[in-house]
Amino acid sequence: MKKVDVVLGLQWGDEGKGKIVDVLASRYKAVARFQGGPNAGHSICIGDSSFVLHSVPSGIFRADTVNFIGNGVVVDPVILMEEIRGIEAAGVKVEGRLLIAKRANLILPTHRVLDATNEAHKGKGKIGSTLKGIGPAYTDKIARTGLRVGDIASADFRSKYEALRDWHLIQIEALGYKDFDISEYEAKWFEAARELLRFDIIDNEVAVNRCLADDVAILAEGAQGSLLDIDFGTYPFVTSSNTLCAGACTGLGVAPSRIGEVFGIFKAYCTRVGSGPFPTELFDETGETMRRIGHEYGATTGRSRRCGWLDLVALNYAVMMNGATSLIMMKADVMNDFDTIKVCVGYELDGKPVHHFPYEAGDADIKPVYKEFPGWKCDISGVRSYDALPQQLKDYIGFIEDFTGVRIDIVSVGPDRDQTIER
Ligand code: GDP
Ligand code: IMO
Ligand code: MG
Repeated sequence: MKKVDVVLGLQWGDEGKGKIVDVLASRYKAVARFQGGPNAGHSICIGDSSFVLHSVPSGIFRADTVNFIGNGVVVDPVILMEEIRGIEAAGVKVEGRLLIAKRANLILPTHRVLDATNEAHKGKGKIGSTLKGIGPAYTDKIARTGLRVGDIASADFRSKYEALRDWHLIQIEALGYKDFDISEYEAKWFEAARELLRFDIIDNEVAVNRCLADDVAILAEGAQGSLLDIDFGTYPFVTSSNTLCAGACTGLGVAPSRIGEVFGIFKAYCTRVGSGPFPTELFDETGETMRRIGHEYGATTGRSRRCGWLDLVALNYAVMMNGATSLIMMKADVMNDFDTIKVCVGYELDGKPVHHFPYEAGDADIKPVYKEFPGWKCDISGVRSYDALPQQLKDYIGFIEDFTGVRIDIVSVGPDRDQTIER
């Protein structure tokens, strides 16, 4: 019996999950997305080609893998079909290799309008949603009013759709929101939903457990990051799903005892896109340099990402809740020219020291306590062995390992598949 190994982000998303899943997928026959939806943007660089995946699992560029979109994912047929066409245009076979859960909930065109309505209603307190309809789609799932991928093939799909759409329109009208027209998107949505039927629409919980029983290990691909988790993230500035390892169980239909390795990914610094607390955020030249050199602009919305120092208090919190068994550090190369590198090792909350990520993160005045490291001041993007990394970077890595109690097994030194160092 094989297990499900999980790759997930330990920060606020965009840690480099797409790159690492693509790298690790060469060792797996199956890759599975288990939560989130097209709010995700997972970048993959293979030589001169680069792709951004929103809904399709990042194992798709490894010809020997099958790729599951699990029941925990929310699917917008328009975005998914556009993405599939792009991948097929690059000469990659998708049919027969993409399996979509019947139980995955659908994002309707009106979910996108509701997202915009809710954000407009919040005004200054807006979440900074990607506006892909994620929150409203999960709201319908929990309210037991949603439509699912398995409904597409049913004879009364259109009438089910219209009933839910009309219910949304009542809510939108009540909020006085008028500036929208879904007719064009709705037509594309039906066309795309029908086209999805050329892929395998399955009971994923059965298929996934059959894989494991047949000795096929699965790599589960998290979206967003641990600090955007609906329960444990910086609520309400979070996404609407469980981004933690536990989400892989409910989002695929596997028991906790079937989870194997938990690969936790983090950047050597920290970023966040959208609103919400970020204790180590930099508003100065250093933050600007991270953004410029790290190309820290959203892969889904193009928004600039907020940048700051690595926060080990927040990282430890994420490591704890995920039970991370292995750490993967990304983008240290972005700090090649830094004279000094800071890392947050504690907080002061209202003048008192705290060593855990506090519930009050949103409201209180958190002051990070930093430890400083000398920079390595050389280009590491061409380094391919751990031993050849500069001692200053090894010291930085050693400190993080001691602080978290988990080994850093992979160090990524550039966006390409090849720029990956395994210890
Ligand atoms: P994801 O959402 O976690 O998959 O991450 P994104 O794709 O949104 O953002 C990560 C960005 O960093 C992408 O542009 C990647 O191509 C890039 N990237 C990944 N790993 C590295 C690395 O080690 N160094 C550098 N410089 N860029 C990287
Ligand atoms: P990947 O998988 C970074 C953020 C949004 C917003 C909040 C809620 O690429 O790491 P939503 O659209 O879910 O209503 O947005 O969550 N967010 C992400 N930030 N990476 C992501 O995905 C994100 N998905 C959502 O910016 O603050
Ligand atoms: Mg991303």
